[in-house]
This record gives sequence, structure tokens and C-alpha cells, in this order.
Amino acid sequence: MASVVELAPSILSANFAQLGADAKAALEGGGTVLHLDVMDGHFVPNLTIGPPVVASLRKTIPDVTFDCHLMIENPDQFIPPFAEAGANWISVHQEACIHLDRTLHLIESHGCKPGVVINPATPLHMLDDVLEIVHLVLVMSVNPGFGAQHFIPNSLKKVETLARIREARGLGFRIEIDGGVALDTVSDIVRAGAEILVAGNAVFSRGDIRENAQKLLQAARSAAAANAPAPRLRHTATVPRSSKSDRHRRQT
Ligand code: DX5
Ligand code: ZN
Repeated sequence: MASVVELAPSILSANFAQLGADAKAALEGGGTVLHLDVMDGHFVPNLTIGPPVVASLRKTIPDVTFDCHLMIENPDQFIPPFAEAGANWISVHQEACIHLDRTLHLIESHGCKPGVVINPATPLHMLDDVLEIVHLVLVMSVNPGFGAQHFIPNSLKKVETLARIREARGLGFRIEIDGGVALDTVSDIVRAGAEILVAGNAVFSRGDIRENAQKLLQAARSAAAANAPAPRLRHTATVPRSSKSDRHRRQT
């Protein structure tokens, strides 16, 4: 499974005065998905970006997957403008959606891949009936609203359970994790089964953005490689045909 681990830098911790340059540096360091945190001051106690910022980033970064994480009330109202601005994936919180199934179909009808997000205190079974229709499940490993918070270890169990459910039900959604992903947590996170790793503070807050991204991705890939099942040995030696005595032995 080593090849499926991806890094999704979260611009929440970038320098907003040079957002395009910071985002590009994180992508040069190995990020393959750009995570865009949208907050409305109601669903979460913080305010961030809207569709115009996504549209500006899209002009300067045309080819990378934009992963819009909507931490807002009434997401249906804003799905069309975010899709128009250049989002590829749009994820909504289970806790913010009265008609979750309808909202996920709305995302799809605007040409984007639907994702569902689950808060640390929400039980996984709340997602049972939408797992067939989502492209990704985003497990919050902090309470949403701010960067640089401590990783909540219980989220590892959620990731493991999700991976088991996916296997048992033969589904294809991807498992993303968001919050507190850093050099000291990433191995456990990958071992639990997370495939898309959102990281803000660990990538943007200090030091060289490219290097930070590279180191984090390297640590994630090493954990994934160590976790991969050992290849099955292939027997290349010719199996000798049974001799008379062998046949005799088997009959006795
Ligand atoms: C928090 C956001 C995260 C945030 C993660 O509500 O959804 O995407 O940027 O930040 P770090 O990586 O700093 O914990
Ligand atoms: Zn996020």
C-alpha cells in the first residue's frame, strides 16, 4: 500500500500574504493535494477563506487537486461557488448537514468528488448509509477550527475501523485524516490506514516549507512500506515428478 499515501498541505498555517508561493513550495516538497479550509465563524469559531481565494489560487496552480474542507453551516449554499472557483473535492461535515445524502449528491452534480467529514466526538456509524456514495471520508483528529492543535489518539481507532468496513463492504472511498499530523504522529497514522494526510502546522509554520513537506512525506512512506504485507514467495524450482517409491510411500 506504500504508493497510496499522499500529502495534502493545509494552507491554514501558510503566510496569507504570500499564499500562492507558500502553496507551491509545499507542492514542490511532494504535496499532491492542496487542502483548503473554509470556516464561517458559526460551525467553527474561526473565519478563513471563500471562493475568490480558491479561484485566485486555481489561476496560479492549475493542475493540482483542490480539496475544499467546508467547516460551515448550510454548505449547500456554497457548493456551487466553490465548484465554480476550481474545487475538485468538496467535503462537508456530517454534523453540519441536515440532509447529508442530498448534499453529497449536490457536490457530485457540480462536477466535484464528494467527501464526508466526521468530528472527533461523532461515532462512525453516523456515516454508515453514505459510505457507498463518497469519494473520501475525512477523519478529524482535532476539533475543527484551528491549526496547530494536539492530535487526538482516539482517531486512530476510527481510521482502523473505517479501513475494515471498507474492506468488508467492498467499497472504494479513500481515508483522509486532518489535524496534528506531524513527524511524531505520522507513522501511527499511516499504520492505522490513513492514505491522505492533511498537514498545516508541520509544513508551513517554521523552517523551510519544501523540506518540511519532504520529510513528512518520507516518514509517511517509510511507515507505509514497513506496514505493507510481505510479498509472497514464488516457487521457481521445478517440482520433481513423483518417483515410484514416492507413489508407493503415499499409498502406504
Ligand atoms: C482544522 C483544519 C485543518 C488544519 C490542520 O480545523 O481542518 O486542516 O489546518 O492543521 P494542523 O496540521 O496544524 O493540525
Ligand atoms: Zn481541514
